[in-house]
Amino acid sequence: AGSGKFFVGGNWKCNGTKESISKLVSDINSAKLESDVDVIVAPPFVYIDQVKNSLSDRVEIAAQNCWTGKGGAFTGEISAEQIYDLGCSWVVLGHSERRHIIGEDNEFIGKKAAYALSQTLGVIACIGELLEEREAGKTFDVCYQQLKAFADAVPGWDKIVIAYEPVWAIGTGKVATPDQAQEVHVAVRDWLSKNVSAEVASKTRIIYGGSVNGSNCGELAKQEDIDGFLVGGASLKGPEFATIVNSVT
Ligand code: G3P
Repeated sequence: AGSGKFFVGGNWKCNGTKESISKLVSDINSAKLESDVDVIVAPPFVYIDQVKNSLSDRVEIAAQNCWTGKGGAFTGEISAEQIYDLGCSWVVLGHSERRHIIGEDNEFIGKKAAYALSQTLGVIACIGELLEEREAGKTFDVCYQQLKAFADAVPGWDKIVIAYEPVWAIGTGKVATPDQAQEVHVAVRDWLSKNVSAEVASKTRIIYGGSVNGSNCGELAKQEDIDGFLVGGASLKGPEFATIVNSVT
């Protein structure tokens, strides 16, 4: 981990019932979480209110997505204002599942980021390459393009955390090695330094996601440019999520 405050998010994706979420919240509430870590959970929209009303204030809440602008006649969408109204302080944008399963593109995601920031939400901005892109030697190019789309759209980086999530590592059990993750995190920082500013490059937290669990988090957290994690599957188990939060070194 680097000098920024360690940041661990639990992305619950489209999982859970009122009952299972009540158990997960109570497990998180009773876990010991290191104080010097920002801890965030991202429940499905429909359970945000339940989580807000039962989860300790120690843990912040993120939405998993939001609309590109102000609410209105956009059937099925959820606006940044509504997310804020429910008590969320963050939103996850550009997640690979939204890019590759739902078909969101860079420009659309950039718009969402700009609007969410304008409504005072923090943005967890996800980037990452597909396996074929890695195999074709395009990892950095893909990440740079995705970063550029965020950079072109947002007015500032104070409330942005970058999540590097190689798509081949998400939900596959094939975690990136600490060296593979560190290499991309350094490249992302370098891109920020050249294209935004040296200050933003040194202050912006870059977290890793993709098959992080209670056993592999310790080695990853030792890397200088890994400032935390975005956790999927393992965040659905309270004690394991706490182990990941507490892996800060
Ligand atoms: O956003 C977190 C994520 O996509 C990683 O999921 O299940 O591989 O930890 P998982």
